[in-house]
Amino acid sequence: MNVREAIETRRSIKKFNGQAVSKEQMKEIVEAGTWAPNHGTREPWRLVGAVGESMDRMLEAIKEVAVPKWRDMSEDELNSALTKFMQPGAVLFIVVPEDARQKERMEDFGAASAMIQNMQLAAWEMGIGSCWKTPPFIDNPKFRSTLGVKPGERIISMLQFGYFDEAPKAKPRKPAEDILEFFE
Ligand SMILES: Cc1cc2nc3c(=O)[nH]c(=O)nc-3n(C[C@H](O)[C@H](O)[C@H](O)COP(=O)(O)O)c2cc1C
Repeated sequence: MNVREAIETRRSIKKFNGQAVSKEQMKEIVEAGTWAPNHGTREPWRLVGAVGESMDRMLEAIKEVAVPKWRDMSEDELNSALTKFMQPGAVLFIVVPEDARQKERMEDFGAASAMIQNMQLAAWEMGIGSCWKTPPFIDNPKFRSTLGVKPGERIISMLQFGYFDEAPKAKPRKPAEDILEFFE
């Protein structure tokens, strides 16, 4: 798969088939992530992940900070919704420093976003789907503490990974001429 093909064919996968993803595969994906451009080689990211059996413990941690819509569910409904939510084989939380300086903070978020895209593309090439999610609980103090996120750090993404049976159709994008103007 060449780069352009990976960029264009990658889709956010929201329905996984439950097939296991290994720690070795996740390490390979993260390795690809680390080659993202980042100012001053600050490498402004760290990742907290769960794979395989530890996904169950992650699910428990998430249950503790369940969002309101989940809180209204019966125990059975909640278990079923969360199991579906955790159907992916692996999950990575991407943690970035919140630099007090605005420019550096913007650069670090940008670099970590590039890292995430690298990981999504590398996974795609391996046949593994992913989705960048920002559920409300990523800012929950209890959840942050469970993950060991320190003051001055922020979780910017819950990145889910897993195998899938079907990729969704792409949503069309604006053509380049609509968003690009050349300075004359
Ligand atoms: C910063 C960011 C946050 C996102 N948060 C969510 C989310 O919370 N839930 C979700 O289903 N998808 C989320 N997505 C994925 C987008 O919905 C997805 O990228 C978009 O629909 C385009 O689809 P594609 O990635 O297949 O091209 C997020 C994507 C980005 C970049």
